[in-house]
Amino acid sequence: MDTAAFIKGLPKAELHLHIEGSLEPELMFALAKRNGIALPYDSVDALRAAYEFSRLQDFLDIYYQGAQVLLTKDDFRDLALAYFERLTADGGVHAEIFFDPQTHTDRGVPFATVADGLLAGMAEAEARFGVTSSLILCFLRHLSEEAAFATLAQAEPYLDRIAGVGLDSSEVGHPPEKFARVFAAARAKGLKLMAHAGEEGPPAYVWEALELLAVDRIDHGNRALEDARLVERLAKDGLTLTVCPLSNLKLCVVDDLAGHPLKRMLDLGLKATINSDDPAYFGGYLGENWRQTAQALDLSREQLVTLARNSFTGSFLPPAEIERRLAQIDAYAAST
Ligand code: ADE
Ligand code: ZN
Repeated sequence: MDTAAFIKGLPKAELHLHIEGSLEPELMFALAKRNGIALPYDSVDALRAAYEFSRLQDFLDIYYQGAQVLLTKDDFRDLALAYFERLTADGGVHAEIFFDPQTHTDRGVPFATVADGLLAGMAEAEARFGVTSSLILCFLRHLSEEAAFATLAQAEPYLDRIAGVGLDSSEVGHPPEKFARVFAAARAKGLKLMAHAGEEGPPAYVWEALELLAVDRIDHGNRALEDARLVERLAKDGLTLTVCPLSNLKLCVVDDLAGHPLKRMLDLGLKATINSDDPAYFGGYLGENWRQTAQALDLSREQLVTLARNSFTGSFLPPAEIERRLAQIDAYAAST
């Protein structure tokens, strides 16, 4: 069995996926038409041609613009369903998806429209494809602490259907510390916590995410490798890193995939996972991230199995479900 087939059959979870980042140009144009919105591009090809980024902010500017076509509950449902169809095709069986409510509520789209639409898509995906999922609310870090608190308040009626909160958007200049109080409030409500840290920001931001936010997972974490004491701490705590290789390549966090730190992370005993981040913008969904990374880093079957196991041990699934998936992975690895 070749590596691509081995990867496809390996049960996998995706732990770092921005649902707004799965908005394909074709769907963006279809929703713009449905909602009577003019896009500043004349065609899907012209839009795709604009996807050249040299840093995170280049991408964020275009990503927030693209999200403006999302207006109705059906738009959010269709978006989610399209993602789960891709995930299932790649052999993904579970996803914990980020959404950015402020990107929508700041345009007058109610929180409930966003959440109801996504939850409808998630329920339909489970019924149709058997894929499980949960929802993670991300605060936009370029906005204020006060705005994050207001968003948490809007989420109140949905907290039984939201697994946790995260922190995304422009990293440099917006350290985790800015959100320490809102994260403490989220933890008090029983939510899991995670933050993007060390994507472009320094190791100090990863330290802050650990010590001031008390996160359960780190999103990205690449730059943690610059600090040996931090690596030791992440390894000791068994903290999962949700790493996004094709995103890192597209946003120039790495020069090429062969130089990607994922293999070093595994060698250092870190619980790294492979994820797609914003697949419609970065050239590939979960399977493409796995295949390209496996090839560029010459990952062994054993390392691929470790990555698949990490995607479940780092998930927020119930312990019995995690054990069931780990047993499935081991049975698959033993039989191939
Ligand atoms: N929002 C969507 N994708 C992101 C990323 N890779 N980093 C920070 N914020 C994001
Ligand atoms: Zn991300």
